[in-house]
Amino acid sequence: MKIGIFDSGIGGLSVLHEAYHQLPGQEYIFYADTEHVPYGLKTKEQILGYAIEITEFLIKQGVDVIVIACNTATSVAVKELRKRYSLPILGMEPAVKPAVEGTDKKRIMVIATPVTIKEDKLKNLLHRVDEDHRVDLLPMPRLVEFAEREEFESAQVRDYINSQFSEYDKDDYSALVLGCTHFNYFKPLYKEYFGDDTLLIDGNFGTIRHLADVSGILLSDDPDRVVYFDEYHNILCDTKYFFSGREINDEKTLEHLKRLHNRLEEVRKID
Ligand code: DGL
Repeated sequence: MKIGIFDSGIGGLSVLHEAYHQLPGQEYIFYADTEHVPYGLKTKEQILGYAIEITEFLIKQGVDVIVIACNTATSVAVKELRKRYSLPILGMEPAVKPAVEGTDKKRIMVIATPVTIKEDKLKNLLHRVDEDHRVDLLPMPRLVEFAEREEFESAQVRDYINSQFSEYDKDDYSALVLGCTHFNYFKPLYKEYFGDDTLLIDGNFGTIRHLADVSGILLSDDPDRVVYFDEYHNILCDTKYFFSGREINDEKTLEHLKRLHNRLEEVRKID
């Protein structure tokens, strides 16, 4: 099965990374729209335009199914893409449902991009599942910039995260929902801030499970086998990587991708 996965940038790599764990042995095309990142600060028209261009690119690459590994692009474009193209197109939305169902009484914080927070898709989801009005929404657009710069633990990131959360009482929260795929890289910092009692919930496993259902592929029976990239492990792992249409073959960018996968491996089990 040839699976296309796209995002505005390197956030979507966290979805591909989970796919390596759960669905090894498939063929992947990963597309990061690095020329247009961040989507979270663009207009709806711009985001839809990028999503159409990428979908057509992936279809030309012969993919059987597409995963929009981006909450922002999903909220703006998934409906229109499904109208235009006949292959299965899976989207992502903040994992509010499992957060509400899996926790008791205390509040839930959803962090996402400004576009995801403004769009009707999330509002409709909250309307359906947040009956007790326990969910707070907080935009964190600068985390996308930090992630793209591979800046995961600097004093600036820490200051930014702490200042964004500072208006909320951390003891009120039972869960933090990571509603943007770029936000996975910072899991240790949320833990530092909220402590162990606040669950971190991302949508990656749910998305891959859904992908397995839709495409009839069985999930691995050894999903925690380490996915680690060094000179002995080929980064391409049956994957072609594209940055805004340009195939990645150069050593420097492959090293960058390896470091990102290794970071994702380190943070994957933090919840
Ligand atoms: N990674 C994306 C998401 O899941 C969007 C980040 C951005 O480009 O602003 O929402």
